[in-house]
Amino acid sequence: MLEPRLGFTAAALVSLFLLVGSSLKAESAIGVNWGTLSFHKLNPSTVVDLLKANKIQKVKLFEADPDVLKALMGSGIQVVVGIPNEMLAALSSSTVASDSWVRQNVSKYLGKGGADIRYVAVGNEPFLSSYSGQYEPYVIPALLNLQQSLAKANLAGYVKLVVPCNADAYESSLPSQGAFRPEVTEVITQLVSFLNSNGSPFVVNIYPFLSLYGNSDFPQDYAFFEGTTHAVTDGANVYYNAFDGNFDTLVAALSKLGYGQMPIVVGEVGWPTDGAIGANLTAARFFNQGLINHVLSNKGTPLRPGVPPMDIYLFSLLDEGAKSILPGTFERHWGIFSFDGQAKYALNLGLGNRLLKNARNVRYLPSRWCVANPSTDLSAVTDHMKLACSFADCTTLNYGGSCNGIGAKGNISYAFNSYYQLQMQNAKSCDFDGLGMVTFLDPSVGDCRFLVGVTGVTSSGFRPVFTWAVSWAATLWGFWVFLCEKRFL
Ligand SMILES: *[C@@H]1O[C@H](CO)[C@@H](O)[C@H](O)[C@H]1NC(C)=O
Ligand SMILES: *[C@@H]1O[C@H](CO)[C@@H](O)[C@H](O)[C@H]1NC(C)=O
Ligand SMILES: *[C@@H]1O[C@H](CO)[C@@H](O)[C@H](O)[C@H]1NC(C)=O
Repeated sequence: MLEPRLGFTAAALVSLFLLVGSSLKAESAIGVNWGTLSFHKLNPSTVVDLLKANKIQKVKLFEADPDVLKALMGSGIQVVVGIPNEMLAALSSSTVASDSWVRQNVSKYLGKGGADIRYVAVGNEPFLSSYSGQYEPYVIPALLNLQQSLAKANLAGYVKLVVPCNADAYESSLPSQGAFRPEVTEVITQLVSFLNSNGSPFVVNIYPFLSLYGNSDFPQDYAFFEGTTHAVTDGANVYYNAFDGNFDTLVAALSKLGYGQMPIVVGEVGWPTDGAIGANLTAARFFNQGLINHVLSNKGTPLRPGVPPMDIYLFSLLDEGAKSILPGTFERHWGIFSFDGQAKYALNLGLGNRLLKNARNVRYLPSRWCVANPSTDLSAVTDHMKLACSFADCTTLNYGGSCNGIGAKGNISYAFNSYYQLQMQNAKSCDFDGLGMVTFLDPSVGDCRFLVGVTGVTSSGFRPVFTWAVSWAATLWGFWVFLCEKRFL
């Protein structure tokens, strides 16, 4: 008990110095969101090495995944851990639950050589209008319980609670008129009062891409940072980009509640590269580089001149092929790196490297792909393709995607391969009633990449033995089913 406490005190002192030092220069830090909804998960230590190689000092997580937090231990990287919305009800119901959550997901990792958890994100966009208020009653009670638990664990001065809000929490046609949505004004008033009394920032997710995507009248150049022919004039202030306009709408909304000076952290911001019109490498690079340069210039916004957001967390570090595409078919392609940790475009994060550095020691499956067998009649393939794409990711085939235009046969092959890689290249998964075949020639065409999966296997050797055992069990089960079907038994 004593050892971690000592480490914690030292860390707190160091951070106090850093805080004092940095608050003098009002400089934003660039961090990243690390989501793990992928079929081909990199080993967490590979990802931590990737963060370190790119000198990224701040990372935001959507959970408190033990493997991820263990990999972050000793890295010196500052961490935001997340609590999924589904857990809010339980945490709001008792301090026994919140005590246990803090113990298992925070206290355990802190201390010398531990994971430097600085924030807990309580829910993720819990006031999103499409949730119709279902999480709203739990947010403040969960915050209060968790705050009490942190205080009990002597961590309340070091670990801060925040609630990432979607920009749909506020609205206005002009930034200076910004106000929170009437339905959430009461709960947000309680939230900002809580944040203020605990020294926490307001965390907001801002997505000019979604404004552009959802509205054909939205002026394209207003989404970026290179000046616009559609500047927004708001009294004496002129807005040249959607990000500043959105940010100041929040500042005005906070001012209305009496918290115009509250520090703001941008919890998510970014641009996707594939799967839909407007989601491409050029636009993503243009947006993200423009954003980073803008924020690091310390210009701030008309309502907060010279005061840029406290921190911004890019969305996202890696592509996540297993994410829901309910928000749109671009949703699996937000990464500045592809799922396997390879830089998608030239980006200077402003952290010391001029370009992104790729992940190293990525363990790929063997170089082989599953494609449509050219010698068979493919007229009966539609159901197979649908099924494959309902499990695996085929969103790059969509209009505007990098694999749109590879032809009908190309579509089928792409779907087959995505599924085959998802199944870790299990030979049976390329059968498709004889319509699929394995090839050793990379079927990628132009920008359309046919992926090869990665394996998160650690060097311990446990997983290969386990996989071997499972595949034997599956084979025996298959044989049993075969015998039953043929009524041999
Ligand atoms: C966090 O703690 C709770 C115990 O309250 C536990 O149920 C949960 O699985 C832990 N981990 C995560 C990722 O939330
Ligand atoms: C990329 O997207 C931007 C808008 O987001 C669009 O203006 C541009 O034409 C697109 N580029 C390509 C090559 O599709
Ligand atoms: C390939 O699939 C995409 C997405 O479903 C579709 O838009 C496109 O028309 C298909 N191409 C052909 C030639 O069928």
